[in-house]
Amino acid sequence: MNIAHQDDYIEVPLKHHSDSAFLLERLPTKVICSCYISAMRIPLASSGLRPEDLAIAIEVLQSGNLTMGKHVKNFEIQMADYLGVSNFVMMNSGSSANLAIFEALLRPTKSSPLLEEDDGVLVPAIAWPTTIWPIIQLGLHPVFVDVEADSLAIDLEKAQNLINLGRRNIKAIFPIHPLGYGVDPSRLDNFSRMNNLVQINDVCESLGSWYGDKHAGTSGLAGSFSFYFSHHITTMEGGGVATNNEEFADDLRSIRSHGWSRDRKDSASWSEHLTQNDSKFLFVSTGYNIRPMEIQAAIGSSQIRDIDSFISKRRIIASRVLESVKGTQLSVIGDQTLINQIDSKNHSWMLIPIQCKNANQKNVVVKFLNELEIETRPVLTGNFLSQPAIERIDKHHENPLNFPVSKHISETCFLVGAHHDLSSEQIDFLSQSINHASKLKYDE
Ligand SMILES: Cc1ncc(COP(=O)(O)O)c(C=O)c1O
Repeated sequence: MNIAHQDDYIEVPLKHHSDSAFLLERLPTKVICSCYISAMRIPLASSGLRPEDLAIAIEVLQSGNLTMGKHVKNFEIQMADYLGVSNFVMMNSGSSANLAIFEALLRPTKSSPLLEEDDGVLVPAIAWPTTIWPIIQLGLHPVFVDVEADSLAIDLEKAQNLINLGRRNIKAIFPIHPLGYGVDPSRLDNFSRMNNLVQINDVCESLGSWYGDKHAGTSGLAGSFSFYFSHHITTMEGGGVATNNEEFADDLRSIRSHGWSRDRKDSASWSEHLTQNDSKFLFVSTGYNIRPMEIQAAIGSSQIRDIDSFISKRRIIASRVLESVKGTQLSVIGDQTLINQIDSKNHSWMLIPIQCKNANQKNVVVKFLNELEIETRPVLTGNFLSQPAIERIDKHHENPLNFPVSKHISETCFLVGAHHDLSSEQIDFLSQSINHASKLKYDE
């Protein structure tokens, strides 16, 4: 199914749907509408599993070795190598990776804790729930900061103002690298150093993004990654933490597996000193069971080999969407990396954020795209301070109106898919449809 161009009219397929009348009123005069169902669904997410991934998954299941073992070790080596760090500790999700990071900061096995209960952690107001929940669950306080309009990342100038005002006992910064956009590591490093903050990074949306010679989220103490299906690579569910700190990595290894010493690089030194305990059943830290399975790691190993081609495809999709909004009132947030083709910076485009002129235009555009079965969604959760859960749980939560950029983004911006599984026909359909949507009438 294609939207056909003929000189100065276009043919737009519309489903029989209650919204059709709403859209018909807003179409430009030279549009002819035919009513048939679009067959070109553009999903936000796709499984990303290829025949070779399924083959290795079946092999692992047949082997009988199911829980964390040699495939996990192998995948961890590949990930550490890819990211250029000394340790990657795999877990069962990116959310678990965030939880484990804060547990390790609060209750390390050897050195003094880097954070203590009641400390404040700077986080962006446009966030994912499990960026925030571990902070609250473990007795710390999220200190929300507005985001930058052109990157959707935490606004470091506003963060500095909060610190200068002496707000809370701010001891750490946990920036999200949003939607494939890597935050400049040198800016983060300078900011953290000047303010004496622990820097940890939520990179769950931005595997494959880099700045200069560094992968996003590999500056600072640690970065969490997600391999949830539809991300840059998938292990179905899955995630992990990258760090260059050996002790921190060992603590994460214990925390992911009941607090066990078994899997630590320094496990021998623990059993040497604690001879009264069975060395196979030595528990040295607090912990959870957030271990990954062998099948996840084996799929991850198969996928990571092809990450460069996945990311190139995502970049092509983003370029096509950018072309389709040129000269219109829509724009793509984070487009500078495409326009300037900066070699030293790669944006790995998890999804594509489209900015509308106002909330009315967003409403019209989103309805039109959804009518064509092009899925859309809010930017992460939108302004997280407007979510009922945070209003109910964090008694110190800020007024959502104090975050004007996050509020504006929530009202005027939406996401479309950029999955590397999209076919060239789907990419054509997506970009043509966005271009048509940009011409719809709306209340200015
Ligand atoms: C910013 C951010 N942090 C954390 C997560 C959690 O990752 P997972 O779904 O693997 O638990 C996500 C999910 O995509 C995310 O977008």
